Amino acid sequence: MPDTAPLFLTQGSTSVQRCARCGDITPELDASAECAKCGGLFEIVHATPEAHGAALLALFGLRSGLKPTAEPSGVWRYRELVMPSATDPVSHPEGNTPLLARTMVQSYANSAQLLLKHEGHNPTGSFKDRGMTVAVTQAKRIGARAVACASTGNTSASLASYAAHAGIPALVFVPRGQIALGKLTQSLAYGARTLLVDGDFDACLRLVRESSRELGVYLVNSINPWRVEGQKTIVFEMLQQLGYDAPDWIALPAGNLGNTSAFGKALREAFALGLITRVPRLLAVQAAGAAPFAHSFAAHFATHEPVHAETLATAIKIGDPASWDRAVRAITETNGVVTAVTDAEILDAKAVIDASGVGCEPASAASVAGVKQLRERGVIGEHERVVAVLTGHLLKDPGIIQSYHQDTTPAPPRANKPVEISARLSEVERVLSRL
Ligand code: F0G
Repeated sequence: MPDTAPLFLTQGSTSVQRCARCGDITPELDASAECAKCGGLFEIVHATPEAHGAALLALFGLRSGLKPTAEPSGVWRYRELVMPSATDPVSHPEGNTPLLARTMVQSYANSAQLLLKHEGHNPTGSFKDRGMTVAVTQAKRIGARAVACASTGNTSASLASYAAHAGIPALVFVPRGQIALGKLTQSLAYGARTLLVDGDFDACLRLVRESSRELGVYLVNSINPWRVEGQKTIVFEMLQQLGYDAPDWIALPAGNLGNTSAFGKALREAFALGLITRVPRLLAVQAAGAAPFAHSFAAHFATHEPVHAETLATAIKIGDPASWDRAVRAITETNGVVTAVTDAEILDAKAVIDASGVGCEPASAASVAGVKQLRERGVIGEHERVVAVLTGHLLKDPGIIQSYHQDTTPAPPRANKPVEISARLSEVERVLSRL
């Protein structure tokens, strides 16, 4: 599929699903998970929005009022670029996440202008809600009898919640014993049928794709192009918060590469529509034990080798990312960088983010660890403006926190061990005197 394919349609008012491999067009309400002609993945192409430039910006701004509908949602506010024909979105609402400046984190990464876009503030505690509101809206529009996903935990938590909201049965496939407690319990609580698969995430994804093909359940992993449309709004909202003065870099953790692809598409569209005049560079950060994309980047994307994934950042413990080609395009077009950080670096960055009062789950801290590394290597300049995306909430993975602060010997450098005392004032006084 040549990259010269039109970004927006010049005719008609509906969106279409275009095969990213062969260019074949499928109607937007068709439920297929992949191109019937060649098996490639779809991307969504919209009609050219009626409003342009300032008029489009005014429209987005107008919708940020606080009404009890989907309108102020940080996803549906941008609906011309997400799903223009949606009439009844399945929305909590979601998005409207903060952009934070924290001196402690800026000093740690040696990046004075670093901002944190905290996607853990979404209704189920991760950025997945932005894609899921759109994918489940689509599931409802096409009358899906059930929805399904494979997940390292956050996608399943999000799907469980949105499917409950829409009244559609949900089936989630997770690797047994490999997802964080907060995420597994969300999926149970929201009422999804939760399948603990004897295998890793990559095996779960293979199984759910097969189930979708053979059994007709609607697949909502990020290979579903509507998920990508929703996740683009992380970028749109960040740009709006910055007054459309684009940062120099956007850093994000990378696993299955859906979000990296979404960020690339968002920037391509924002630039084409004149919302920004300059395209930020993407920095995709993988865990060292699950870094096939970083290895490939080091070889100028000449190689594509899946790995057996091992990392304590379970959200990104993925050895064979599904959205590979779309992510290569995102990195190439933004003059981006892909790197890997060790689990020790992730835990260290997380301890700093947590201690700043912001907090995030382990995978999220990879973005800040990646910024720190690129500052040290001199790739990111001292005065460059960087936004690091924190993808999930601190409470997603309480097990890691407990083991870091309480159970690891010798204690890690930033451990904050609890103190056991008897119920006497003198003991409190002793603790206080050492603060
Ligand atoms: N950060 C968090 C907290 C995640 O849950 C994920 C992915 C990522 C980053 C990476 O995003 O896959 O688009 O590159 N979690 C998926 C899941 C795989 O099932 O929840 P990606």
